[in-house]
Amino acid sequence: MSPRVVTTAAELRAATTELLGALDSGRASLGLVPTMGALHEGHAALARAARGENDVVVATIFVNPLQFGDPTDLERYPRTLEADVEMLGQCGVDLVFAPSRDEVYPGGEPLIRLSAGRLGEKFEGEFRPGHFDGMLTVVAKLLHLAWPATDASYRAYFGQKDVQQLALIRRMVSDLSFAAEIRAVPTVRSPEGLALSSRNRFLNEEESEAALVLSRALRLLAGQASRCEPLDLDSAVALVKSQPLVELEYFEVVDHETLEPLGFNCRETPFSGEGLALIAARVGSVRLIDNQPLKADPAGPQG
Ligand code: PAF
Repeated sequence: MSPRVVTTAAELRAATTELLGALDSGRASLGLVPTMGALHEGHAALARAARGENDVVVATIFVNPLQFGDPTDLERYPRTLEADVEMLGQCGVDLVFAPSRDEVYPGGEPLIRLSAGRLGEKFEGEFRPGHFDGMLTVVAKLLHLAWPATDASYRAYFGQKDVQQLALIRRMVSDLSFAAEIRAVPTVRSPEGLALSSRNRFLNEEESEAALVLSRALRLLAGQASRCEPLDLDSAVALVKSQPLVELEYFEVVDHETLEPLGFNCRETPFSGEGLALIAARVGSVRLIDNQPLKADPAGPQG
């Protein structure tokens, strides 16, 4: 069934209050799926996860100008509202909030914004200055705009693919005491391994093939980690660099919660516990990011 689409904060509040009010369950729950549209199977996984865990599911579609440093990037971000609404309907979303820029930022860009702090300055933050401040500002606003008027519990869904974004949202929610639960949904990949992204549509056939080296290099490290071997990051970097169409920006192994680099320790001693490999690269004119949770499995076949 096609979900109802609302464009103002007042309509959103009235609609969620009505949907939650119609439930006779003891404690209702609302699941929020914030997106910028141009939806793919990765977003569908977020919507389905929210559908599975909540009584009412709201998805938002808003291309947030605050998180784009480059006006051309903002301009060329795909807008596919009709198809997006259809996909969200197929995933069981009840309500779509697709506000205009003026609805979200009445009176122009906000004077007061959130700051992502130190965690927002490294990795993506280094290549996209201000991106995370803009992202957190809109996520805070969307969480507020969709906040249930009843005492329903509140969950918001984000993809593991944008792992630094996820870590920052978790910190925002905990540091600023938002009473919402943040749920992470695993990365969805093409059958060949490419992490799904709205930007993949800009890759030509040759570039799509070349981009597979990112997930291949991540899998190499995941295998070493699970076998409790030292991580051979140099070989993984060399593998990426061997692909002439790919320009590596960063490739690092970090703590899976703080995103602090694990340094040489994990390269010189057998891998133990958990970690996270982060990678970003340009393929043609497209910037791609990916990551891979790393987990030692001492009971595995080699352990
Ligand atoms: O991941 C995204 O699509 C965006 O960064 C988000 C979380 C919807 C905020 O604009």
